[in-house]
Amino acid sequence: MSSSADLQETTKSVPCIKILTLFPDMVRTVLETSIPGRTERQGQVRYEVVDIREFSVDKHRTVDDTAYGGGAGMIMMAKPVVEAVESVRKNDDATVILTTPQGETFDEALTLELLDDLQLKGELILICGHYKGIDERAIELVVNREVSIGDYVLSGGELPALVVADALVRRIEGVLHNEDSANNDSFTTVRGGGLDCQWYTKPPEYRGLKVPDVLLSGHHGKIAEWRDEQARERTEVRRPDLTKTDLTKNEEKSQKR
Ligand SMILES: C[S@@+](CC[C@H](N)C(=O)[O-])C[C@H]1O[C@@H](n2cnc3c(N)ncnc32)[C@H](O)[C@@H]1O
Repeated sequence: MSSSADLQETTKSVPCIKILTLFPDMVRTVLETSIPGRTERQGQVRYEVVDIREFSVDKHRTVDDTAYGGGAGMIMMAKPVVEAVESVRKNDDATVILTTPQGETFDEALTLELLDDLQLKGELILICGHYKGIDERAIELVVNREVSIGDYVLSGGELPALVVADALVRRIEGVLHNEDSANNDSFTTVRGGGLDCQWYTKPPEYRGLKVPDVLLSGHHGKIAEWRDEQARERTEVRRPDLTKTDLTKNEEKSQKR
């Protein structure tokens, strides 16, 4: 049986994703579900969800105010955000990410880079903005990376932070079982940075639509060849931009794991 000191040591060595939000229940629910939840239960990652309102400026739990210079929309104040970060940050050099439509775009290369960062430093902090965003001084003081999940604007940073957390934890070695394997998903090195092929399951015919014969042939070589070909064709038709993907960075990261 492990002593409480052993347990504390183990907990400390498990990398921790820390999400700072005004909606902790929303975040916790997703982190407890499916693969993110299983990853934590298996002891391969920990999550800390911090309610930014715990660091509010008054007894009304205020965390936002009107913008200097006027204009519609509230701004999250610097103090609660900065103090929430300081309350959970263990390493001074921890990566503190602000989710924002103005950040670098989240993709496969950034997934692998942030996963390395999480495993190296033991923690990764994600701040969820809301309203018009957060006071720029909080960004200057505690944020060292800004990440966007795409060119559209959501109401808050919770979904983007959860997107980042999910994409990272499913790439931790040993998390995915065979049934949800990620090694030939879209954007992976196996797919040359392109898209995955199409997939089928039982029955062999549904509403007149048949599974391609080759998949029922039992010939593994031919099946692999067919899947590669389909994946290449899909990439050329749907995402020709991906045929130019520079995989060097992804490959280096993938080889490390
Ligand atoms: C309504 S948005 C603020 C948008 C900001 N005024 C702008 O136009 O750049 C509120 C919060 O949602 C989050 N957010 C919205 N869209 C996002 C995206 N595409 N990627 C990452 N975070 C996003 C950010 O945390 C942001 O602070």
